[in-house]
Amino acid sequence: MSSHDTALIDLARRYWLPVYRPRELVLDHGRGARLWDTQGRDYVDFGAGIAVNGLGHQDPDLLDALTGQAHKLWHSSNVFYTEPPLKLAGELVEASGFAERVFLCNSGAEANEAAIKLVRRWAAAQGREAGRRVIVTFRGSFHGRTLATVTATAQPKYQEGYEPLPGGFRYIDFNDVAALEAAFAPGDVAAVMLEPVQGEGGVRPAAPGFLRQVRALCDRHDALLVLDEIQCGMGRTGTLFAYVQDEVTPDIVTLAKALGAGFPIGAMLVGHRAAEIMQVGAHGSTFGGNPLAAAVARVALAKLGSPAVLLNVGRQADALRQGLAAIDAEFGLFEEVRGRGLMLGAALAEPHRGKAGAILDVAAAHGVLLLQAGPDVLRLLPPLTITDGELADGLDRLRSALAAFLAPAGESP
Ligand SMILES: Cc1ncc(COP(=O)(O)O)c(C=O)c1O
Repeated sequence: MSSHDTALIDLARRYWLPVYRPRELVLDHGRGARLWDTQGRDYVDFGAGIAVNGLGHQDPDLLDALTGQAHKLWHSSNVFYTEPPLKLAGELVEASGFAERVFLCNSGAEANEAAIKLVRRWAAAQGREAGRRVIVTFRGSFHGRTLATVTATAQPKYQEGYEPLPGGFRYIDFNDVAALEAAFAPGDVAAVMLEPVQGEGGVRPAAPGFLRQVRALCDRHDALLVLDEIQCGMGRTGTLFAYVQDEVTPDIVTLAKALGAGFPIGAMLVGHRAAEIMQVGAHGSTFGGNPLAAAVARVALAKLGSPAVLLNVGRQADALRQGLAAIDAEFGLFEEVRGRGLMLGAALAEPHRGKAGAILDVAAAHGVLLLQAGPDVLRLLPPLTITDGELADGLDRLRSALAAFLAPAGESP
């Protein structure tokens, strides 16, 4: 590592709240599904900024939207109207096929926080006392880091030490219909909240038919169905919204990450059962729906929902699965490869469990950047616009990295 990079990373060590452990490289710029570090080394991007850079890096239309709006107006607050968030809201409603209203914010946690608050208000408006406004969530889920969303996140490792946590959440196993029926039994459930494909929790798709059963139980017990599509939405699974493949109509959907394709923005989409619940003063955000973010998101939404991009997701997902299968046939490293579209998880087989972080280090050294979902799963989330050549190159580099990882110390593969 150069002294320039060492000095930069020292700044993180000295001044950042040490809540992250980034890989030891300093990225400088990107184009398409490739990134370059400050030393001029290139990397194939199989992580897309954690499912954010859906259109890769330096998409020309995003650049035009950003710079065009930057020369007009960056921010006005919600005390005044500007054009981009008004148009974006209409386009999101149109694209969703179920929503009637949209709340714009700045991140995934904020979108989920808005959804949790809306559920509580909806239940309150029905005359349900505070103890009967329970939200059911699933083990392995991830919904964000604010106090309410980390409580919705049914994983103790994210919650420990932050007690007292807000009440009114109930956790059950993912894909377990009997457990969900039991969770409804006390008659106090106001909503069920879930990711159609769990991301951070190990890249686990809902089982076929599971969402339809959740929908039916929500209907039977007069509860809202909240879908967190922050990671799996915006085309990542091959349709603009993942729930379309599950053939359900949700009441609330949350979006963020690829909605801005790299520019921070989040959204909560609300269907007719709850669209009129929050009125003036019920919620808000200074930056939410700012014209700069909304102008970029309008372009991201149009492009990520286009047939060209969605077809590419299917095509590259097949290529990525085939590539991973070939790697597995050679090295026998994976227990299974699961996921949907370009949201794939390669679960490490027994002798390699716990080593996802170490593999990511070796992969970076071989010029391919991927993610983990816990210590046992390699997570692959390339840009949805990745080309045949970029994908093949990334797989070659991953193969070399895994060969090096498995080679006895001192031997070059
Ligand atoms: C499914 C899901 N929900 C919510 C969040 C939180 O989003 P943010 O980090 O933008 O607050 C994430 C982030 O990884 C996520 O994957």
